[in-house]
Amino acid sequence: MDTAGKTITCRAAIAWAEKSRLSIEEVQVEPPKPGEVRIRMLSSGICGSDDHVLKGELSVKFPLIPGHEGAGIVESVGDGVCSVKQGDKVLTLIIPQCRECDACLHSQGNFCDKQDVLPCSGVMLDGTCRFSCRGQKIYHSFRTSTFTEYTVVPEIAVVKIDDDAPMDKVCLISCGVPTGYGAAVNSAKVTPGSTCVVFGLGGVGSAVVMGCKASGASRIIGVDINEQKFPRARALGVTDCLNPNKLKKPVQEVVMEMTGVGADFAFEAIGKVETMVAAWNSCNNSYGVCLIVGLAPVDAQLCLEAAKILSGKTLKGVCLGDYKTRDCIPQIVTDYLQDKINIDPLVTHQLPFNQLHKALELYHAGKTIRCVLLF
Ligand SMILES: NC(=O)c1ccc[n+]([C@@H]2O[C@H](COP(=O)([O-])OP(=O)(O)OC[C@H]3O[C@@H](n4cnc5c(N)ncnc54)[C@H](O)[C@@H]3O)[C@@H](O)[C@H]2O)c1
Ligand SMILES: [Zn+2]
Ligand SMILES: [Zn+2]
Repeated sequence: MDTAGKTITCRAAIAWAEKSRLSIEEVQVEPPKPGEVRIRMLSSGICGSDDHVLKGELSVKFPLIPGHEGAGIVESVGDGVCSVKQGDKVLTLIIPQCRECDACLHSQGNFCDKQDVLPCSGVMLDGTCRFSCRGQKIYHSFRTSTFTEYTVVPEIAVVKIDDDAPMDKVCLISCGVPTGYGAAVNSAKVTPGSTCVVFGLGGVGSAVVMGCKASGASRIIGVDINEQKFPRARALGVTDCLNPNKLKKPVQEVVMEMTGVGADFAFEAIGKVETMVAAWNSCNNSYGVCLIVGLAPVDAQLCLEAAKILSGKTLKGVCLGDYKTRDCIPQIVTDYLQDKINIDPLVTHQLPFNQLHKALELYHAGKTIRCVLLF
């Protein structure tokens, strides 16, 4: 049946309020407006940013449909859409690329002015929503919303990928993989023989480790309070694992002692101010580079000793690996298909969408690197 132009009724997960249990409901998904794309979701990862949304740590409006790390097939397109067409395999993009704004036009910028991350307005570019449930408007999350059988996203937040991409895995290339891998290889440009420290060994931190390893780092120190993460982290290339809760000294002091001079590169992939400060204080005073990848709560302030920046080290934030998303993310899918990057070890669990609560339990119990929901 051709659904183009019609409202689709399907199942989606709704967070009616912050910290509430997600409820799988029948929702109405309007057809895409001009410049928009309606996607039949095939898979979605559960990213740490979704957890921040559901806990109310970011500035978001409820009720909303969470999820942003998605892969699917274009069901229909609105007027004027020309970069994707019905039947294309696509990824959703939390950071769009409008190719018109200041950041998009700058050679080094990727944080498109039309992003919907900080703060999250929960609406499409025209200020309205495409979802409703029992007559009530349901907000989008990061203009993507992937915990749903169908979603609508702006054309600038979707990109076509290879026809033979395995859709039960490549959703990770929508967020976690470029975020972590790109932070190491593209943003920090980790050097061969260097020492790296990675705070947080979840989906993003594990992708950072992969990037450090691929760049030839000779020592990769992994830091996490959940030791269940250590065996998989070692398999990806972590050489030393530290659990800050079991150390007698602050973790940054231990990293300083282990390395003698501090790490060349430190990455924070948790989203907490304390670990951002620890990452900063773990890197070499003169040439160390500290990358903040984790998303801190909306009101959090980062407080650093001002004198310590004088010695030359660098602090840098990075979103989606500094990639211009529509230009660069399809190539990562191609690289995966050509065995240049292997994302398989990151997909530790796959569950049907109707087992969403089990997937969230596994995530909260710290058992997953990435659990992929399959539609
Ligand atoms: N910058 C970006 O573009 C971008 C994109 C995606 C995700 N993120 C952010 O990256 C962060 C990580 O995302 P993820 O998907 O890997 O999340 P995750 O939940 O999979 O992983 C977080 C890890 O941090 C560990 N952890 C928690 N508190 C800790 C502490 N005090 N000390 C040490 N380890 C601790 C957890 O045990 C877990 O292993 C989140 O803040 C997320 O919002 C940023
Ligand atoms: Zn994400
Ligand atoms: Zn832009």
